[in-house]
Amino acid sequence: QDSVAVGLLGVGVVGSGVVNLIEKHQEKLSHQLGCGVRVKSALVRNPDKVRDIGADMNGITLTADADAILDDPEIDVVVEVMGGIEEARESILKAFASKKHVVTANKDLVALHGGELHEAAEENNCDLYYEASVAGGIPILRGITDGFASDHIEQLLGIVNGTTNYIMTKMSQEGLSYDDALKQAQDRGFAEADPASDVEGLDAARKMAILGRLAFSTYVNLEDVEMTGIEEVEAADLQYGDSLGFTMKLIGFADFDGERVEVNVQPALISKEHPLADVKNEYNAVYVYGEAVGEAMFYGAGAGSMPTAAAVMSDVVAVIKNMHRGVTGGQFVEPRFEKRLKTAEQ
Ligand code: HSE
Repeated sequence: QDSVAVGLLGVGVVGSGVVNLIEKHQEKLSHQLGCGVRVKSALVRNPDKVRDIGADMNGITLTADADAILDDPEIDVVVEVMGGIEEARESILKAFASKKHVVTANKDLVALHGGELHEAAEENNCDLYYEASVAGGIPILRGITDGFASDHIEQLLGIVNGTTNYIMTKMSQEGLSYDDALKQAQDRGFAEADPASDVEGLDAARKMAILGRLAFSTYVNLEDVEMTGIEEVEAADLQYGDSLGFTMKLIGFADFDGERVEVNVQPALISKEHPLADVKNEYNAVYVYGEAVGEAMFYGAGAGSMPTAAAVMSDVVAVIKNMHRGVTGGQFVEPRFEKRLKTAEQ
């Protein structure tokens, strides 16, 4: 096979990053895979719109009809980077029904419908990967699955929402007001379209549900993740914590005591000695404690076109390697436990 054809659902911030990376790293990709990778067609709202994404789009067929991609027998890999839930879910299920492997960056969708998507992938003998859905460019899902494959993760702490980390950093270190800091996060492009999901902790809860599931091979439903956002946090709280040697962060916590999994998200004071205290502005980090490994921390850009596109491409490479070996893998860990999530009432 000269090149593997990819169908791209969405050419927005992440999709255009993917087109750029495929163009820029064609030689490296061919060297690793023994074949090229090309975007054959892309789903866009308006195919006639002229777009300058910094890469050559001449060879890419633009279409407003998802079925033109999902029914195309030449396309082996569908990359879903359009966001939203229902349309994305239907497209992915259809891709599996057409025996296509799927890479998605869609944390909202995976957190809500991950189980259904995994089942559909398995039934159709297809891959499903979603590295970009948690902490953007940081290879955290691969880290906690492959990296801890023969270890037992005891605890995981994450700063997985850049917007809230940015707001809290700016409020505590530069004395910005909550509103001004949020406005800056929006201007810099990493806040969600509706920033309520950032500041209420929902975005972090979605990512922690995905992390908890993979770290502990168990079902973690989004509705069971307790969350408290940062709307009530005041500059005085941050300064008071600071004077006592603590930094306040929106911390996602996932723990498995051998019986139950607990996942929650809340503003927490952490000692300035802890490595997570140094994670500033929009950066993300996930601190993992493994029985064998001990402490490990993954740090980097949790959002942005290129970091997120790089995570998507790492999945595309994994899919193509699996295709060549005739196996399917995906970010699938067979749940070892029935649903045993600790809820607020227990
Ligand atoms: N709104 C998200 C954040 C974007 O602030 O982290 C990346 O998922």
